[in-house]
Amino acid sequence: MAEPARKTTAEVRQLSKDAKFDTIGVVMASTQRRDKKGSPYWTITVMDETGSLEGRVWSNGVWKDVRDGGSTDVDPLTSDLAKGMNGRSLGLRGQVSEFNDKLQYNFNIVYFVDQEKYPPHEFVQRSPIPVETLLKGLDEILGQCGELEAFVRSVLESDGIRRDFESFPAAVSHHHAYTAGLLEHTISVARNAVATADASIASGYPVDRGIVAAGALLHDLGKLDAYRLSPMPQMTVPGTVIDHVALGYARFDRLAEAFGLEERLRLALGHILISHHGSKEFGSPALPATPEAMIVSSADELDFRLYCWKNAVDQLDDDSDGITDFSYSAGRRFWKWRE
Ligand SMILES: [Fe+2]
Ligand SMILES: [Fe+2]
Repeated sequence: MAEPARKTTAEVRQLSKDAKFDTIGVVMASTQRRDKKGSPYWTITVMDETGSLEGRVWSNGVWKDVRDGGSTDVDPLTSDLAKGMNGRSLGLRGQVSEFNDKLQYNFNIVYFVDQEKYPPHEFVQRSPIPVETLLKGLDEILGQCGELEAFVRSVLESDGIRRDFESFPAAVSHHHAYTAGLLEHTISVARNAVATADASIASGYPVDRGIVAAGALLHDLGKLDAYRLSPMPQMTVPGTVIDHVALGYARFDRLAEAFGLEERLRLALGHILISHHGSKEFGSPALPATPEAMIVSSADELDFRLYCWKNAVDQLDDDSDGITDFSYSAGRRFWKWRE
């Protein structure tokens, strides 16, 4: 029997009903349940650099250990390989089927692969924008921080922050939940914020664009303590029990103290970090009270929504009416308007 050529998860998601596929990814989540007849089945979500794919392994699925080049049968109910699959690379061979008018992915063969030959970190989804392009964007915004440029540069150079910024996700789910997602999100927020600052200045509002640029670059500083890649984005314990808004303010306060940042700038920037979620309901203990904080907070929300829109419309079929599935992150359906 001819084996289907290996596909990325993005390529598998483009396949039509009945198509066969073979893919490898790192397991983000796996759960075992029982169907109505009491037979076990598994739901497995794998990720690769192009995205993720969720599918089912029914009780007639075949599980194989191919790590040493051979092919040994594995009993998924007793094997440690199956119990410990999360965070490890896994091969999946299957077929697209349809259920309730929706495509569904059945994994007929699950194969445990050599983790050195297929290192899990190589399958983690990354920002679609190359890191060099993102770093160029970071430098451009740094150049717009005015009297805060030296401080923001000192933050990036401390505690390996610049290096972490190059790899960290912006979230565990919801938005930019992939390698370098935090950098991609931060630059987009900073660009929008600086453009809004310029537009507001042109409309006669007194706005300090240096504080806007610096505040936008640092607004999610706490995510460096709240998340980690292991190799998929995960929430740390402090991220869960303190949250990135408070964690970011704490880290900022330490760094501002060490730098000897002037009190008025310290308060203006600290206010942006603590208020950037825009409301108490969304985790900010103080509401944005300055033009600079209002601008950063709205740029943050705009980037989040634009990301959710793009993510949702990317899943649309070519012949759809342009209305997306409900986005729980953004609390709405989106629309891809077409001429
Ligand atoms: Fe945030
Ligand atoms: Fe943010």
